[in-house]
Amino acid sequence: MDKLTIRDVDASGKRVFVRVDFNVPLQDGKVTDDSRIQAAIPTIRALLGQGARVILASHLGRPDGKVQDGLRLRPVAQRLSQLLRLNVPCTGDALGVGTDDAVQRLRPGEALLLENLRFHVEEEKNDPAFAAALAAYADLYVNDAFGTAHRAHASTVGIARILPAYAGLLMEAEIKALSGLLEDPARPFAAVIGGAKVSGKIEVLTHLMDKVDLFAVGGGMANTFLVAQGKSVGKSLAEYDRVDDAKRILAMAEKHNVRIVLPVDVIVAKEVTQGTEYKTLPADKIPASWHIVDIGKQSQTLMEEALEPAKTVFWNGPLGVFEIPSFAQGTKAMARFLADKASGGATVVVGGGDSVAAVKQQGLADRMTHISTGGGASLEFLEGRELPGIAVLQDRPAGTEAS
Ligand code: 3PG
Repeated sequence: MDKLTIRDVDASGKRVFVRVDFNVPLQDGKVTDDSRIQAAIPTIRALLGQGARVILASHLGRPDGKVQDGLRLRPVAQRLSQLLRLNVPCTGDALGVGTDDAVQRLRPGEALLLENLRFHVEEEKNDPAFAAALAAYADLYVNDAFGTAHRAHASTVGIARILPAYAGLLMEAEIKALSGLLEDPARPFAAVIGGAKVSGKIEVLTHLMDKVDLFAVGGGMANTFLVAQGKSVGKSLAEYDRVDDAKRILAMAEKHNVRIVLPVDVIVAKEVTQGTEYKTLPADKIPASWHIVDIGKQSQTLMEEALEPAKTVFWNGPLGVFEIPSFAQGTKAMARFLADKASGGATVVVGGGDSVAAVKQQGLADRMTHISTGGGASLEFLEGRELPGIAVLQDRPAGTEAS
């Protein structure tokens, strides 16, 4: 990696501002999925272990510059304290006299968490004065918030222009895993792409086209491809204004000799709700009043056969309406299949909300090579875009080795 990391700095005694992505789901004041908190622990522990004074900062949700009690970070600080076995207090505000005092009182080996940065409208605007106020807390800046690296905000970009800026260990691991896919994947390299809409995936399909050997496509976005092939998809979700894009992708795949595996049979339902009537049909025989909600068994087998030789797989997006248990089968089966592949030695990288959820729900996360903590960020990375939160970190001087 060509960025300096916390391995390249002695943070002992220093005040270190660490941007983390603690944008985690909460229910009844409790964190329901702490993976993003767990993922930041190695960086936090490494810094505390060096005797740094650690100022953690994150956003939670999209409060649009207003204080929302349901988006306070206190439950996150509580979970973090449990995981670290160290009390990490949460300030009442990211700025203000009380917070200044708390930062000044921090001793080496202690940490605190600033309140939700997005309670200040200046955060998302990358306001220079807000960035300067955050920078004033610290001597060094560390970005471990890969999930937010595609946002050019005060805490991801503004502050990194003021303080010496380093990548955290999670950021480093994410960059290594994802750039490994783009730079030198073991072949065959396959991408399994799902999710509701093709519109959000056109760029990643296009960028990966000359890198992959195979795409397996499922979820609502596959419907737009079926329409592009002249099939009718009834009442299913499809983006008719993107059919030309789907045709372009199909033509490009043919030109690049990339196989695209689309569903050949699908689960169709009367309504997109749990408990409704559903059945399996061939993908070219969808009645006008039914909705496609999952891939069928034949499609699953077809995709598994096509993926069998792959030595590298990237997976983003569910293959059906995953949030409804009856229509989650295709997605869950893919999670199990890819976990077995990873156990068999293939590199399997999973990124994106529901595909990651499918893996975690079945307790398969530890078997995958890498589970990205970034949804939008991992997609933008694989679209070949420069992520502002990474670009701004200090480059490793030419000729020096990572420690
Ligand atoms: C995410 O959950 O993808 C990140 O935390 C970024 O959140 P955002 O889309 O609200 O900027």
